[in-house]
Amino acid sequence: MNKGKNSGTVLNPVRTKEDVKFEDNLRPENFEEFIGQETIKKKLNIFIKAALKRKENLDHVLLYGPPGLGKTSLAFIIAKQMGAGIKPTSGPVIEKTGDLSAILTNLQEKEVLFIDEIHRLHPSVEEILYSAMEDFSLDIVIGQGPSARSHKLKLKKFTLIGATTRAGHITAPLRSRFGIINRLDYYPEKYLKSIIKRSAKILNVSITEQGARQIAKRSRGTPRVANRLLRRVRDYADVVADGKITSEEAVKALDMMEVDSVGLDDVDRKILSTIIENFSGGPVGINTISAAIDEEKDTIESIYEPFLMRIGFLERTTRGRCATQKAYQHLGYKFGSSTPQEGLFNDDQKS
Ligand SMILES: Nc1ncnc2c1ncn2[C@@H]1O[C@H](COP(=O)(O)OP(=O)(O)OP(=O)(O)O)[C@@H](O)[C@H]1O
Ligand SMILES: [Mg+2]
Repeated sequence: MNKGKNSGTVLNPVRTKEDVKFEDNLRPENFEEFIGQETIKKKLNIFIKAALKRKENLDHVLLYGPPGLGKTSLAFIIAKQMGAGIKPTSGPVIEKTGDLSAILTNLQEKEVLFIDEIHRLHPSVEEILYSAMEDFSLDIVIGQGPSARSHKLKLKKFTLIGATTRAGHITAPLRSRFGIINRLDYYPEKYLKSIIKRSAKILNVSITEQGARQIAKRSRGTPRVANRLLRRVRDYADVVADGKITSEEAVKALDMMEVDSVGLDDVDRKILSTIIENFSGGPVGINTISAAIDEEKDTIESIYEPFLMRIGFLERTTRGRCATQKAYQHLGYKFGSSTPQEGLFNDDQKS
């Protein structure tokens, strides 16, 4: 996925090299360790049990939602619960139809093929998936020119798990071939707190309830961000507080990283203040915002906007984006005014 110019910020949920190093350790391995998303877990559990009982492969699963919410983790858990192997790959990696044919013909009965970023499959590659998903067959052409013959190859009954951050970019024919479609949503604070406590235990970090709560509040509803903030706060606490993460140390460390009380960073604030100051609060088109703050449109749409909308700071209308009253208040503007208010307290000061 496109990382954007500000990919260095600590709140960007897109996976970084540093995350890769830690995530293997922290990745939940079964439904019990996978915290939150209760409805999805319950549904998947039933489908998996039913498939196991019938001794059949699990229906194809599509997982979508913003980065860092647990799509890859869930895919691996599903395969494990099915007692099946998993072959992970991703949309942009499969360049030719032959590459996908080779993967498909090598799959075992009930095995899981996990295609990350499935919206980025090349159209000709995607087309092969249609018959593979529907009747577990592959049309291959042998020979060239007038003597070429089409041959139907039978495949083993596998399960495809597709993951994407951009559900809107999945074509209708592909989408319709998934029997189980799940949208992962941002996590409420209480689940993030549990995720932070679990990770702290694995990383051998001492943290108080309130310390975990402060980190959870600023994690943008995203487990990956929660784990990353925990690591940074731990570094801070190691140096200045004998390694123990209390509420006070957590707040000091997070303030130092310029992560505010609801988890907004520089880019979020720039998006909102630009709409408020330059465009009277909106509506303003996404291209205009993108040009004004010098950030890629795709990054704004897939990373920043979903969260700002989720917390009620931004509205998307047919005529463009608008900053809400809540956003004005949080950033210290009087609603409708385009200049920050002297003396009007910015929400950040409140805990
Ligand atoms: N429900 C959860 N419980 C505990 N930890 C979680 C949960 N979901 C995610 N995590 C943590 O967040 C990390 C990122 O999750 P994961 O890689 O599964 O997200 P993703 O949705 O696949 O992200 P991307 O869109 O970038 O591929 C995991 O390694 C894990 O440590
Ligand atoms: Mg993933």
